Amino acid sequence: MFKTISFKRLDSTNDRAKQILEPNTVIMAEEQLKGKGRFNRNWSSSKGGIYLSLILEIKDAKDLSYLTIIAAISAQKAIKEVCNLSSVIKWPNDLLYNNKKLCGILTESMIGKKKLAIVGIGINTNNEIPLSLSKKSISLNKLLKKKIDNKKIVSSLLKNFEKYFKLLKNKKYSKIISDWKKNFFLGSNIKVKTMNKNYSGIAYDIDKDCFLIIKDKYGKKITIKEGDIFLE
Ligand code: BTN
Repeated sequence: MFKTISFKRLDSTNDRAKQILEPNTVIMAEEQLKGKGRFNRNWSSSKGGIYLSLILEIKDAKDLSYLTIIAAISAQKAIKEVCNLSSVIKWPNDLLYNNKKLCGILTESMIGKKKLAIVGIGINTNNEIPLSLSKKSISLNKLLKKKIDNKKIVSSLLKNFEKYFKLLKNKKYSKIISDWKKNFFLGSNIKVKTMNKNYSGIAYDIDKDCFLIIKDKYGKKITIKEGDIFLE
């Protein structure tokens, strides 16, 4: 279903995808010079890792949050299938192992004549993690002490993504959420840093809009729409 365009080096696969804007296309790069994360952060993107962006047509703006979820489940399944490693999904867009980041997802919307979305996925496979990030991030080859087959991961990722994207087109929202929850950090003690306020509590649930619900120490449920999560 997806047509792949590969580059040796790009500033950012998300930015190149925004120029190409052909639905069902995947833009890949061996390295990125200006890899982007959420909140305009940098995404360290040296050679060896996986850096790709999917260009997708969506029907509904609501589908945007679901695309991030689908990408997280697909990357998680790919890592399990190829490396036999179970990672945890941290809301809304990270895969962690032992509390360190293996994968990040950046979904951006391009609402013009057609509603298009760009889903950027970065997976730390064989790339060197800079010392400054070594407390927060880890690569699969460091964890498993062997070279990781990027091609196999990408092919499994795209196969899984295609399957979940079909579910999304058919509005099977609850199936997507229930698969997401299977390897999600529900029940963990977390701290949440939003733009305006900090919270702490237990990751309690995900609602139908893909927002995170936490329960604080008084048992009050709080809906989190954006922010950074820290596992305690
Ligand atoms: C995050 O965790 O903040 C999201 C990181 C997303 C990184 C990927 S790598 C491929 C794509 N191109 C980019 O510039 N960013 C995303």
